[in-house]
Amino acid sequence: MDAAYTVEQLRAAAADAVRAPSLHNTQPWRFRLHEGGIEVVVDQARRLPASDPSGWGARIACGAALYNLRLALAAAGTPASVRLRPYPGEPDVVARLVPDLPRRPTPAERSLHAAIPHRFSNRRPFWPDPVPADVRWQLGEAARAEQCWLELVIGTSAVSAFGEIARSAHRVLDRDPAYRAERAEWTRAEPAPDGVPAASGGPQSEPQDLLPQRGFGNLHRAPGRDFEPEPLVAVLIAAGNTATDQIVAGQALQRVLLTATDADLAVSMLSQPIEVPSAREQLRLSLGRFGTPQMVMRIGFGQPGRPTPRRMVDDVLDLPVSQL
Ligand SMILES: Cc1cc2nc3c(=O)[nH]c(=O)nc-3n(C[C@H](O)[C@H](O)[C@H](O)COP(=O)(O)O)c2cc1C
Repeated sequence: MDAAYTVEQLRAAAADAVRAPSLHNTQPWRFRLHEGGIEVVVDQARRLPASDPSGWGARIACGAALYNLRLALAAAGTPASVRLRPYPGEPDVVARLVPDLPRRPTPAERSLHAAIPHRFSNRRPFWPDPVPADVRWQLGEAARAEQCWLELVIGTSAVSAFGEIARSAHRVLDRDPAYRAERAEWTRAEPAPDGVPAASGGPQSEPQDLLPQRGFGNLHRAPGRDFEPEPLVAVLIAAGNTATDQIVAGQALQRVLLTATDADLAVSMLSQPIEVPSAREQLRLSLGRFGTPQMVMRIGFGQPGRPTPRRMVDDVLDLPVSQL
């Protein structure tokens, strides 16, 4: 056999992979060692039937986990060559990674890898300080390096128009009892290895809010503590909307998030306008770009966030019987 990854390499890289974001922190991934390659597989049992009927969210999450896996392997000096969706008969296998020629990690790989444990969703109001121009450029470069485009929504009227699309998508989703039940089921008041801890949810929405907050938990904000008046809204766009495009977008999302973390920025994600097809189309038209919006981020400077829980690494590994 050619060069092969070991169980130890898989275990170490998977510990970074599981820090990726996922819809309602469902962690819909498994990692397996197969003929010397590491494979990332969508765990369909953890896809949300009401909130993610098409599997878009699970593929974005697996793409983000794949990016962490790539970084972890590169940072260890054992970078991977990656094939997306390698088996036509097994569409849930998102990627297969086999060892490429060993080399030292680049400084960028080192710093993005170091950012993995410090990236959290921060749903609280940010400070009003603007994101500097050079950092905006770096965020765009991060998306481009992963074959995506990051469109920054600039100016009060563009942000208000986006807010309107996002709020109307939020209302459409919230009218569906199955969607509301799923969100409640995955909001955790007690410690749990998955789901969104109520303490990590943002404050309850108020009528003056520009952007809709997906309500996890019951936090209220201090009087006068409004959201930043001009949030930096960034839309991640992929070439299209095939399953492969979504995996590509997941990797780009994670690279943008880690680039933001490395620049001491806070980020929250808003996917309501992606999840409602008519809102997504409206968003696409309003941006006037080719391609398909795959995620929206609110980016700024904020108080440090906190990590959310993950399942144990051994719970997400599938090892050959001889290696158990
Ligand atoms: C596909 C996808 C969609 C998401 N949509 C939202 C959203 O609409 N609102 C939100 O607050 N967080 C959203 N998130 C963030 C997740 O809730 C978050 O990643 C998860 O709870 C884990 O927390 P962490 O990001 O702090 O690690 C989304 C994440 C993914 C991958």
